[in-house]
Amino acid sequence: TTADLESFLHFAISLAQLAGPIILEGFNSRFTPERSALLVKKGNTADLVTEWDQKVEKIVRAEIASKMKGHCFIGEETVAAGEECGLTNAPTWIVDPIDGTTNFVHGFPFVAISIGLAINQEPVVGVIYNPMMNQLFTAAKGQGAYVSKIDENPREQGRRLPLSYPHAPLPLQDISMALIAGEYGSSRGTKDINARTVSMRNLAAVEPAAWTPGRKAGHAHGIRCLGTAAMNMMCVAQGQFDMYWEVGPWEWDICAGIIIIRESGGVVVDGCGREVTDGELLIGRRILCVRACSDEDGNSSPEAIAAAQRKIIE
Ligand code: IPD
Repeated sequence: TTADLESFLHFAISLAQLAGPIILEGFNSRFTPERSALLVKKGNTADLVTEWDQKVEKIVRAEIASKMKGHCFIGEETVAAGEECGLTNAPTWIVDPIDGTTNFVHGFPFVAISIGLAINQEPVVGVIYNPMMNQLFTAAKGQGAYVSKIDENPREQGRRLPLSYPHAPLPLQDISMALIAGEYGSSRGTKDINARTVSMRNLAAVEPAAWTPGRKAGHAHGIRCLGTAAMNMMCVAQGQFDMYWEVGPWEWDICAGIIIIRESGGVVVDGCGREVTDGELLIGRRILCVRACSDEDGNSSPEAIAAAQRKIIE
């Protein structure tokens, strides 16, 4: 019910309030000598994890276990530690304790905790909090999306998304006027990196030789890689990025972002144009997000989505 979602949203905000000061402490102390054991090896040099990721996840997970009886939990570090966490229809909290771990290690302030709740595999509550910038993004299904500060009431003191920048409400028919976020991701094998580099080139290329004959010419205004799926998605929700595309993000990177973008009037679809259920979207590791547009139905234009998908995968 609406009241249930409302109380789950408040609980998710309380988790962000709990985690924020810890993330900030880690961020501010990362260069002190006693923190030299900061890095815990995970995948490769592009797939980092720190003691802080583990610490935050442990605290958040314990809080969920004690307050949300019967709910499931999927967390980045829990999965990394080898625990089985399959996505089922049960209410499931899907959490990335520190999204943008590489940024966290380098002191680049695009870092956020991402807390999503999926019910029947559909994201219904999302909270993303960047403690360095004190930006709290919140949404519950059917109740709109907001950005506020952590100690504010999002609906009363926050701003509803998308923000009304001059360009944001314009229809987006094609990628040629778009500011697009993409990522090189953390799997850096030759095959993966080649495919991503080709996609980046397709989106950015200006020279006519890059176009397939007969296709509408055009290139994106610009491409950005923030190093965090959650913050890339929040730039889409605000209307700052027109699109975000990535092959590689996990369900904890995107669960909260999906509902916040949807509640801001944008859409999140499979990055390769396949028809997928929400469950498949969550675990499919292939997303394309498009900001709200001023179409009659208030949704991002199918033309823009199709144009971006063509350019990305051609
Ligand atoms: C990663 C970041 C990165 C994205 C990867 C994610 P992490 O999450 O969001 O921008 O490219 O797909 O896994 O490792 O920083 O939590």
